[in-house]
Amino acid sequence: MKAVIFDLDGVITDTASYHFKAWKQLAASLEIEMDEQFNEQLKGISRIESLEKILAKGKKLDQYTEQEIHQLAQQKNEVYKELINGLTSADILPGILPFLQELKENSIKIAIASASKNAPFILEKLEINQYFDTIVDPDSLKKGKPAPDIFLKGAEQLFVHSSDCVGIEDAPAGVDSINAASMVSIGVGSSDQLRKADVVLSSTEKLTYEIVNQAWKDHCNKS
Ligand code: BG6
Ligand code: MG
Repeated sequence: MKAVIFDLDGVITDTASYHFKAWKQLAASLEIEMDEQFNEQLKGISRIESLEKILAKGKKLDQYTEQEIHQLAQQKNEVYKELINGLTSADILPGILPFLQELKENSIKIAIASASKNAPFILEKLEINQYFDTIVDPDSLKKGKPAPDIFLKGAEQLFVHSSDCVGIEDAPAGVDSINAASMVSIGVGSSDQLRKADVVLSSTEKLTYEIVNQAWKDHCNKS
């Protein structure tokens, strides 16, 4: 294993509730109701795609022009940014910091492959940007998750082959993206939701160099 490529939201910090709050507020202003169960479908999905799913849910997708959709997405992002402005290093999920340190000690390259355009801002707030060798810009890609593009771009930016990478995700769309990139996939969360991952861990606390490297070795031995 030469590199670990991380998703951000739900793996490094738990921003899902802030995304939900901001989307719920926007949806309510458009007279569309959304609950936490529906919100699950938005995990790992880009801002615009998320909004399109919300508008489709309210049967209102055809009522807005492309420009209006972009304005609404920006409106949501303003609320979201207010909410994440208070993030600090105390918001890093358990186990992530020692795991990043272990990866560094073992000379493993580290990247972020997040659909979020706010990733650099969040890493700065969490005070961990120095651990990451590169961050993929989601705007530079044609297709978001579940397509493999974002993880493949991460490997390319790290100058490593995809078969030497492990990807870590909390969302089914993200696990699909890692698998499609022919990388070893580690899912963090419910084994039911993330059943397509090579290895599922119940929490970020379980992430260690040994476990992740072993998952990579096991995968190499199988193929
Ligand atoms: C993903 C989140 O990481 O980023 C999604 O799981 C979110 O919920 C997406 O919509 C885009 O984020 P942002 O910060 O660019 O609106
Ligand atoms: Mg995520």
